[in-house]
Amino acid sequence: MIKRKDIIKIAIDSPAAAGAGTLAKSISKHYNLFYLDTGKIYRFIAFMKYKYPNKFNHKFIKSKINNLKIKNLSNRFLLSDEIGTLASTISKNKSIRKLVHSFQLNAAYNPPKKYKGSCLDGRDITYKIIPDADFKFYVTANLKIRAFRRYKELKKNKSHISYTEVLKSIKKRDKSDFNRKISPLKKTKDSLLINTTNLTKRACFLKIKKIIDKKILINGNI
Ligand code: C5P
Repeated sequence: MIKRKDIIKIAIDSPAAAGAGTLAKSISKHYNLFYLDTGKIYRFIAFMKYKYPNKFNHKFIKSKINNLKIKNLSNRFLLSDEIGTLASTISKNKSIRKLVHSFQLNAAYNPPKKYKGSCLDGRDITYKIIPDADFKFYVTANLKIRAFRRYKELKKNKSHISYTEVLKSIKKRDKSDFNRKISPLKKTKDSLLINTTNLTKRACFLKIKKIIDKKILINGNI
């Protein structure tokens, strides 16, 4: 694998709907970093299972991943709660995780030339995908706030789901993501905790920016 030198790498892990994606996007834009929402890859595979249940085997998934383009990840069908739940089930599978590993490594270590680095968010980014990241964050918020944020997001996408259903679904997803054997969600010791429960999007962004700018000022990177 090609590894670009002198790039800045940011790793973020978080439970569902904690605001990590919004935060990662604004940070990536500000520092000109290549952003990859790794949950979307698992959602993409889940969508393939939903769309082609009879073809869904190792060979099929492999060919889909080999031909995966970033633009495929912006398909709006990937945003639904059903696909999120299915993604959390298929993401427990070791061979599926192996197949998406190199796609993530490539994004993290060899982002397109026009970017100064990369920023990835997911569940195992800080310890499995980019263990040597320059910055590691664990973004979280309390369960009810996360459910409410996801509920509003789904409503915007014209979903008919109720708040209670979203809450139940997020609880289920937490249980699965935190307790699975392979690559469970956890806060690593070297990750900085960002609790977004009582913070606006802007306040979260400024909090992280301050941390990054301080280190850059000392080390002269970026
Ligand atoms: O982040 P998002 O909610 O879109 O992720 C969907 C599911 O994909 C998660 O619930 C999790 O099970 C899985 N996932 C993962 N590892 C990642 C990112 C997401 O297992 N790095």
